Amino acid sequence: MGALCVFDQVLWRDLALLVQQELERYARGVSDFLRRRLRALPDFPDRLPDFDPASAPADPVVLFLDWLEHALAAGVSQPHAFSLATSTGGGAVSSRMLILKNIEPAGAASAGEAGSAAGAGSPAGAPDAPAPQPAAWHFASTRSSRKGRELAANPRAAMNFYWPALGRQVRVVGAVSLLSAEESALDWEERPAADGRANPDWQVYALLPAEVEFWQASADRHHIRHRYDL
Ligand SMILES: Cc1cc2nc3c(=O)[nH]c(=O)nc-3n(C[C@H](O)[C@H](O)[C@H](O)COP(=O)(O)O)c2cc1C
Repeated sequence: MGALCVFDQVLWRDLALLVQQELERYARGVSDFLRRRLRALPDFPDRLPDFDPASAPADPVVLFLDWLEHALAAGVSQPHAFSLATSTGGGAVSSRMLILKNIEPAGAASAGEAGSAAGAGSPAGAPDAPAPQPAAWHFASTRSSRKGRELAANPRAAMNFYWPALGRQVRVVGAVSLLSAEESALDWEERPAADGRANPDWQVYALLPAEVEFWQASADRHHIRHRYDL
């Protein structure tokens, strides 16, 4: 009986080891399959637009609007959607997708203190081009949301637009301020699904860029970057 018990224990131990090995092999197989599957996915389209930073306009907004029109013409869905990265006061980051509401001269819609990020334009512009006016990039959300609370704690953010069909992305980084209650109420009423309900928590934010970077994928992998420090 005692001998049988020891025999049983050995059997169970071997079986447990076998199961563990099988599970590990399965996990390795799954992760290997996933890795190969991800590797095999297509990245950029074969035909990509040209972009020569030397002939880029002095004003990043002009270039952004040009790229936005190209994205629309190329059939990119929601080309005005971007990811917004924010962080807590302690530096814990988060991001989510939002919709660009407008780009307009900073302060034009009573944006309050817009920070000190505004300044001169790109060195790559034509020599006689006028210096770009500081422009604020608008988005909207609720102040009580995670992003709203994070922006209250740390009023800085980064936007990232991505247009896959063109292999293009644009990063916009800067200080964020609040637009007025009137401006926010107007945006709430103008939403496509507006149902007449008020939302005193709704807020239009204005990001005043310190940096705008344009990125163009290239078939030869020598991707092109053009950065404006403002
Ligand atoms: C394409 C797209 C556009 C969106 N636009 C907005 C927007 O303009 N404002 C907004 O508050 N949420 C928008 N959302 C929802 C947000 O991504 C997010 O889920 C929500 O605002 C809560 O975010 P938070 O918890 O990080 O604050 C959008 C989602 C998608 C997928």
